[in-house]
This record gives sequence, structure tokens and C-alpha cells, in this order.
Amino acid sequence: MKKSLENQVIIEKQPSVLFVASEANPFAGTGGLADVIGSLPKAIAKNDNYDVRVVIPLYKDFSALYRDKLKFVGNYNVPLSWRNQYAGVFSYKKDNVTYYFIDNEYYFKRDGLYGFYDDGERFAFFSKAVIHLMDYLDFYPNVLHAHDWQSALSVVYLRTLFKGVEKFDNIKTMFTIHNIEYQGKYGRDVLGDLFGLDNYYDILEFDECINVMKGAIVCADKVSTVSPSYAEEIKYDFFSHGLSPITNMFAFKTLGILNGIDVNLYNSSKDKYLFENFTMTKMDGKKTCKKELQKMLCLPEREDVPVIAMISRLVSHKGLDLVKAIVDELLCEDVQLIILGKGEAQYEDFFKRVQEEYSGKCRTVIAYNKDLSSKIYSGSDIFLMPSKQEPCGLSQMIACRYGTVPVVRSVGGLKDSITPYNLDRKQGNGFSFNNYNAHEMLYVLKDAIFTYHNTDEWSKIVKCAMKTDFSWKKSSLQYEQIYNELL
Ligand code: GLC
Repeated sequence: MKKSLENQVIIEKQPSVLFVASEANPFAGTGGLADVIGSLPKAIAKNDNYDVRVVIPLYKDFSALYRDKLKFVGNYNVPLSWRNQYAGVFSYKKDNVTYYFIDNEYYFKRDGLYGFYDDGERFAFFSKAVIHLMDYLDFYPNVLHAHDWQSALSVVYLRTLFKGVEKFDNIKTMFTIHNIEYQGKYGRDVLGDLFGLDNYYDILEFDECINVMKGAIVCADKVSTVSPSYAEEIKYDFFSHGLSPITNMFAFKTLGILNGIDVNLYNSSKDKYLFENFTMTKMDGKKTCKKELQKMLCLPEREDVPVIAMISRLVSHKGLDLVKAIVDELLCEDVQLIILGKGEAQYEDFFKRVQEEYSGKCRTVIAYNKDLSSKIYSGSDIFLMPSKQEPCGLSQMIACRYGTVPVVRSVGGLKDSITPYNLDRKQGNGFSFNNYNAHEMLYVLKDAIFTYHNTDEWSKIVKCAMKTDFSWKKSSLQYEQIYNELL
């Protein structure tokens, strides 16, 4: 921004925010975190009030499309306890966001992003490398915004080992919890030997473990979760995975901001994976999507039967036990059920068995597949998401974008994004139930199935779903407001 002041031209530098995370679309990702880190920074950059940068590790599993486009910036050393490790840095600019990728083949040249015996060390290295990156680039952001346990130590390092150094002390910090289930818990021995934080036991200890998420909650200037309801829920034992004493203690600096999605990416009129594109005012394409989907999955091609879909990691907190309990009763109805996902063997096996038993009614695809998921989002009628816990959830929003009506349990971000279609049948973008109870879910599913056959009513709900604003517009400004307050 330029200002004229008594003949002088002062160039005011934009304040800056550095996102620190372990994944970001379209470069490397495994789930919702990658979606958020792939879309929120872009939305903030678009508002043009902040210089937005993002840093993630450079994994072996890095998008082949972008790998050759990266620019090598240089390399530096990262002390990590008694170790001294190499860090290379690459960069790429996209949508006005500068991305940095931290390279170290010992830590990141592996198949997959997580699940290694030394994940604690890998992400301690990454977090420490982020702080040294600032020195290397001579770039000290106004706000460091870290996400989930993998980046939690970046906040802790700033407030411990680097405390007292003005350029670091000036950096404000925000820590966002995408899922409190994964906290980064280790034995006490990691503190000195891996993290180099022997003197900071009090900050990192919780319940006789070293807990890096707890450390970030203590150290961050602001803590957030990915929906307002989840920010409340994590104060309770049922949701907090043991951390409720901490979430309560620091509730004063915690808030929830609902995630958005990239509405350009999830767009029924543009998505290239769809059998036919469609819009809210021209819905014919959705019929083609349904017919072709049924054909592709060898289900009877019937327009009059509601297709119920689930696209989900097949893990217990997604509420699969509820589906297990009523699947026979559900499949007694004239419906078709499609399951797409991967996860725990018990659920994969179960849904494979259901497909065998109900071959003309149910299809189970054990995979994570972007192409097929777009085809299912667009070709289905009802999207089932009965999560036991859901910090935010993005699939229910994506389903709405493709005119598929969500049936959700009213919890966390599902509660904040899906309003039940109410009795006077005028508004609401889906159906929801409250208790974690299989028959309560079935009852609501049956209501949705019944309503589906009332074509006029159903098209109203579909319109409401498609009309809902799931963009980052509002939430990106909320984040900016927090940054502004911190500064
Ligand atoms: C985690 C949460 C999910 C959320 C996503 C993005 O994956 O489990 O609910 O939508 O992060 O914030």
C-alpha cells in the first residue's frame, strides 16, 4: 500500500502469514487437512490483505505434475538435539501464495506420508527446519499459523529455544486443531534426545506423556478448531481424547471457524470427471450422472430409486457401526447403496460382504479415487455421513455442491454446515439426527427416502443444498480478523 505523507512516499509492507502444515493440495495429501491447506491460503491471498506463504515437507509422494516446476532455493543445516541435519528448500508460487517445500531424503523419501516408527523425529525436524527457514530466507512472518500435531512443535520452538530473540518474539502464533484424536504422544525420552527440549518438560508433558499438541495449545497466542461446535465439544471427555483439562484451561484463547471448500474445484458445472455437467437451473446432467454411475457399477439403471452414497475413510469415528447395525433393514427398502473408501479391515470386509449379499443393490469399492468420488458425488441422491465425531467434515459440503442431499449426525462441523430441512419444509439443506443411535439414523434416512419420492419437495431441498455458500469467503475473513487482532 502506498501513502503520501508530506511529499514522502511510504511503502507499507503487507503483513505476512506463514502456514505450517504436513500436507497441502495439490502437492501432497491424504485427507481434509490437504484440502484446507490447499484452499484457505489461496482465499486469504485473494483478499489481498496478507502476504501468504505455506511450508510443507517435500515427500517422495509429491504430485508428479508439480515436481519439475519447483525452484531450488538453497539449503541450510538444522540442529535437532545432538543431530545436525540437511534441509533443502524449494519454492513455487501459485494463486498468489508462495509455497516452500522442505527437502530431506532421510526423513521424507519414503512411500506414504505418515505411519513410520520415527514420525515424531520427522516432524520435529520439519518444525525446527521451519524456524531456521525464516533465518535462511530472512523472512519473519507476522503470524505463524501451524496445523495439527505434525507442525505443533514449530509453535513450541518459537516460544522456547528461540525465545528472547526479538525477530522471533515478534511473531504471533496460531494453532489450528483439525482433529484432536491425533496428538503426537511419546515417551519422555524423546524430549531431550529428539526434540532438544529437555528443559521444557512442563510445557510438553501431559498425563505422563510428551504430547506435542498440548505443547502448541499452551504456547500459541490463539488456538482454533475447524468448526465452532467442535471448539465447544473438545471441552468434553467424549470428544477430547483425554485433552479436556487442557482445552478447558485454554478455552479463553480458543475459537472455532468453519472450514470452507474450494468451490471452483468442487463445481458441478465444471468438474471434468462428471459424466455430464449440470447447474442448479439446468439439472438434466445429474440424471445422466446417475444413470451412467449405475451402469458403471452394474446396478440396475433406475431413475426412480434413491441412490445412497458414503465416501469416507472406513474408520470407526465415521459412524460405520451405525450403518452396520441397520444395513439389512435399510436394504429391505427400494434403495441402492454405494460405499467408497478404505480403512480398517473389519469395515472393508463387512461392506464387501454386504455387496455379495445384496448384489443388485449395493456396491462397495475399496479405494481412494478422485475420479470415482466425483462420479459418486454427482450421480447419487442421498449422501450419508453419520460420524461419531467430526471436527468439520468436507464431504457433506462437496455432496451439496453436486446436488446430493446429506443425511448427517448433528455433530461438530456437520451440525454447523447442514441445517435440517424443517417441518414447514421451506428451508434447510439436508437431514440430520442427534443421538448416536442406529435406528434414529434409519428413521431419518427413511424420511429422506420418503421425501425423495415427492419430486417437488426433493428438488427444493436439492436447490437449498446447492445454494448453500460453502466458499471460504466468510471464514477467510474471520481468520484475517484473528490475525489482525493478534497484531
Ligand atoms: C480432519 C477432520 C475433518 C476436517 C479436516 C479438515 O481431517 O477429521 O473433520 O474436515 O480435518 O479440517
